[in-house]
Amino acid sequence: GKQIRRAKKLANKKIIVTAGGTLEAIDPVRFIGNRSSGKMGIAIAKAAANLGANVTLIYANITVSLPHDPLIKNVHVESTEDMLNIVEKYFVDCNALIMVAAVADWRVKRIADHKLKKNANQDTLNLSLIKTPDILKTVSKQKGKDQIIMGFAAETNELLKNASKKLQEKDADYIIANDVSQNVFGNDQDQVTILSRHNTPKKLKKMSKNEVAKYLVNIIVQEFDK
Ligand code: CTP
Ligand code: CA
Repeated sequence: GKQIRRAKKLANKKIIVTAGGTLEAIDPVRFIGNRSSGKMGIAIAKAAANLGANVTLIYANITVSLPHDPLIKNVHVESTEDMLNIVEKYFVDCNALIMVAAVADWRVKRIADHKLKKNANQDTLNLSLIKTPDILKTVSKQKGKDQIIMGFAAETNELLKNASKKLQEKDADYIIANDVSQNVFGNDQDQVTILSRHNTPKKLKKMSKNEVAKYLVNIIVQEFDK
């Protein structure tokens, strides 16, 4: 008989996923970084590719292994500014951006071109830091009407209040709020709350990162079906 093959739900969709944590160099050997492992971003990239999406995975300082999938293009970046430039480049013709990366908020004003040395008579070191660009905020200003932007919010307190502020200030379609008061970094389990413009926040039950990833990718699928 004739075989009916249903097209995959995200076939021909271009999705950008950022993962890991950006690094800000202090000198040639040191940096400011964070504890993001890249697990959630990679799980989301894989879940999207499984549904046929063309994924650009923009990653910084991950501690887990990269996916090897013909539908996933892995692009390495280091600093927040690098990540912004690459995200902007791919954002132009993408259908959705999922900003999972933990982006460094601060960088040194000037990266030292030689290794900073200690002095015998020096007990303290002051680093003067300046803000990095907000990638989500910058890119949402360039958003076309059919593009979907999903961000994350890691909070230790006042989860809903802080996350809904981010939803508004960053002008994202979705913010996935994550309670990091207990150390979740590198864990396989996750519990998230989904915030969006028009719906009340939805708290998901505790599940594996892969299950959370599938759930979030399905939200994107539903957005495309609207
Ligand atoms: N984000 C970003 N650019 C930054 C900082 C954060 O694009 N310079 C993105 C993150 O990838 C995430 C969302 O914004 O999707 C929220 O990040 P988070 O660190 O929770 O929020 P901040 O706005 O940095 O505020 P704070 O760290 O003070 O809570
Ligand atoms: Ca931050």
